[in-house]
Amino acid sequence: MTAQVTRKKPYRFIDLFAGIGGIRIACERNGGECVFTSEWDKYAQKTYQENFGEHPKGDITNIDEKDIPAHDFLNAGFPCQPFSTIGKREGFKHKTQGTLFFDVVRILKYHKTKMILLENVPGLVSHDNGNTIAVIEDVLENELGYKVFHQVVNAADYGVPQERKRIYIVGFFKDEYDDDLQFEWPEPESKHKYINEFLEEHPSGYGISKHLQNSYLFKKNDGRPQLIDKSSKIKVKTLVATYHKIQRLTGTFVKDGETGLRLLSENECKAIMGFPKSFKVPVSRTQMYRQFGNSVAIPVVEKIIFQILKTATKYKKGS
Ligand SMILES: C[S@@+](CC[C@H](N)C(=O)[O-])C[C@H]1O[C@@H](n2cnc3c(N)ncnc32)[C@H](O)[C@@H]1O
Repeated sequence: MTAQVTRKKPYRFIDLFAGIGGIRIACERNGGECVFTSEWDKYAQKTYQENFGEHPKGDITNIDEKDIPAHDFLNAGFPCQPFSTIGKREGFKHKTQGTLFFDVVRILKYHKTKMILLENVPGLVSHDNGNTIAVIEDVLENELGYKVFHQVVNAADYGVPQERKRIYIVGFFKDEYDDDLQFEWPEPESKHKYINEFLEEHPSGYGISKHLQNSYLFKKNDGRPQLIDKSSKIKVKTLVATYHKIQRLTGTFVKDGETGLRLLSENECKAIMGFPKSFKVPVSRTQMYRQFGNSVAIPVVEKIIFQILKTATKYKKGS
């Protein structure tokens, strides 16, 4: 585990689009105190409540930025799909699901939050021929006064047995930091983890029926399911929110159990996402896959946050 950053007082952070709190765990492991959470999905709220003893506030578009407590660090894994209209900057005028980034903007504008971490799917980089990411960076840099860095990082290089590339956008409020501030992304780790270390023996209730196997998985040859067993010294494919809909044919399945093939179990999902085994999942299987598939691989986020805090300490004005 990453060493804790030594600070006199814990930093205060907010957890937006919190899902089940993957980013929160990464922040807390770096000594942070969560002072506000927003997540509107009732099933994700249930899992969040069960694990953190807190019920997230709902729809961020209905939350007045003045009602959010003061904080040092804003985290937002804003939803991946509806960024289609960011490039048009409509979020400055209209409130829609497509412009949730602009809800982040109004919060930053009011609070002048010192540090930010945004997370999204890597497709954001090429979306609208690069215009979307350009607008995001332009707004953060020139309208809000942040020094911004972005990078696509693969969680597989940071201690989980899963290929999971995500774009991370990191920002530092310029008024607080020296002009020469530079951000270094965490170094990829030399020691890798593979799925075979984590596979369970015959966990019950995850079998894929012969009928489903024949009618979907092995019928068409247009999909490429990844089939694994105890000898698979490999990393699994990205866990997506729709993993349980196996007719999508794209996931990772385990050669095991009565029907010869099963879905990844709850513990295996925790392992590939870097969640602790003790993390509680009080929802249905469908919701469980959706929640982990929407979440972050904790170890890579933990390391990025460590670097953010280190950078903030090093370049703090007057330090
Ligand atoms: C990509 S997920 C982020 C998951 C989170 N990083 C985690 O570790 O679980 C985006 C989340 O934003 C939530 N969301 C979408 N629109 C929202 C809104 N208007 N207000 C609050 N939450 C919203 C979704 O329900 C979803 O859980």
